[in-house]
Amino acid sequence: MSTAAQRLPKPRGKGEGAEAAAAAGGPLAVRRRSVLLSQECGALSEPRYRKGLCEGSRDPRPPSFLKGRTDRERRSDMALDFLCSNLSAGENGHLFFAGQDTAELARRYGTPLYLVDEQRIRACCRAYLQSVKTAFGGRGRVLFAAKAAAFKRMFAIMAEEGMCADVVSPGEIWTAVRAGFPMERAWFHSSNKSDEDLAFAMEQGVGAIVVDSTEELFAVDRIAAARGIQQAILLRLTPGIDPHTFEAVATGKVDSKFGFGIETGLAEEITRTALSLCHVSLVGFHCHVGSEVFDSDVFIRSAEIMLRFIALVKEHCGYEAGFLDLGGGYGVRYLPGQPELDIAGNIAEVGAYVTRRCRELGIEQPEIAFEPGRSIVADAGLTLYTVGMVKRIPDIVNYVSVDGGMTDNIRYALYRAPYTVLPAGKLSEPRDMRCTVVGRCCESGDIIQPDVPLPSSIRRGDLLAVCTTGAYNYSMASNYNRVPRPPIVMLSEGESYVAVRRESLDDLLALDE
Ligand code: LLP
Repeated sequence: MSTAAQRLPKPRGKGEGAEAAAAAGGPLAVRRRSVLLSQECGALSEPRYRKGLCEGSRDPRPPSFLKGRTDRERRSDMALDFLCSNLSAGENGHLFFAGQDTAELARRYGTPLYLVDEQRIRACCRAYLQSVKTAFGGRGRVLFAAKAAAFKRMFAIMAEEGMCADVVSPGEIWTAVRAGFPMERAWFHSSNKSDEDLAFAMEQGVGAIVVDSTEELFAVDRIAAARGIQQAILLRLTPGIDPHTFEAVATGKVDSKFGFGIETGLAEEITRTALSLCHVSLVGFHCHVGSEVFDSDVFIRSAEIMLRFIALVKEHCGYEAGFLDLGGGYGVRYLPGQPELDIAGNIAEVGAYVTRRCRELGIEQPEIAFEPGRSIVADAGLTLYTVGMVKRIPDIVNYVSVDGGMTDNIRYALYRAPYTVLPAGKLSEPRDMRCTVVGRCCESGDIIQPDVPLPSSIRRGDLLAVCTTGAYNYSMASNYNRVPRPPIVMLSEGESYVAVRRESLDDLLALDE
């Protein structure tokens, strides 16, 4: 019998004997809280070279027209509320991204345009992998949550970096397969997988299926039986934690549509059922409490609840989980005033905590998985637009309209998500006009961002850059109003290349009979 479970380290329990835990570190104390309240833009000493999870690409050249100015003068001259080390100002007053002139890129590829800084992504992957390796003594893994940015080149980069992946649909699975991603490193999530989805995932050889409902558990068992395999699964549990983020992206509370509640007793019940089935092999438990989370305690609180559950199940059923997947959700800064998470520090804290608590609870330390999406790709992305209409309604509002909008970035319309918008060709001008930046779609809700300071000289043909658009922008893009989706151009070591081409008008008609 071929079994997907064989591709994973053997789970403990069921009387099979326990693997030795990787005892990472000595006596462990929880380190200081790891949220670093980032300084307001005005207090940053060198905004362009601010340290985050990783460094990524940077343009080390100081713009010469800024020389001789004080920090404060330079910041107000340039409105340098930059967020990430891959943003910088050129001597020509243009915004540079990953060391390349955005005006030049707009000329070459047209707008709207998604730009992606490949080195930044690679640096983030390496930082995550290193942090997890250090914190869990080699018994940890990092799955890229592909829903944040799913296209072939992204999966290829993840494969090259040694990342695992969280995929949530046949579409994401197929993209990964076609990119040559090793599917045994992919785990299949989603709160509602059809029989066809499950069969397709098994056919493509996903490493594990994260089961979200009772119906799905039986479906996996039935489909695996028909295929003559034993399918590795994790059970998605709801730890009952409020991560204090947007309601729409909070997923771990007891009233959630996701997973099996621990406090309702359902989690234990479904664990017993899973252990009794012949064609599933329970390898561990999963939880994900929300996205864009800044509360540094969230992963520790989830780990505590999940480890206690693992201990309970060991006591009641004699089963010990081989994996504990703590999900994704680390928040990123969209505005300079937002807090900045010390992700590496937080993972170290979680590592220390998990090791200590496993010892105290008398359980083997499971392999710990994280599933970051946003924090790997968000600030590796930037969108460029060309300004069309500028409409001033005296004493009420100034509109600046761009050639994209909610079709390529629905996040303000959906979540009131904040963004930093910069006049990419006019960084040296004072930003003396407050504007609402709107898209081209036929509805008033098509807003990229309200209350954006822009130069009063802004006019048709000027470039606008929206920063931090690498996560959930392309992946949530639509063809509303029959607007073609922008291309994705990757920037790497001074070069640029197209990863996803611009949709053509004929592409829009491709499915019409
Ligand atoms: N794992 C699971 C099971 C998830 O549901 C998610 C995100 C992640 C990992 C990755 O979370 P991240 O590290 O990216 O925060 N469309 C929304 C975000 C929805 C996130 C859904 N799940 C947005 O644009 O903000």
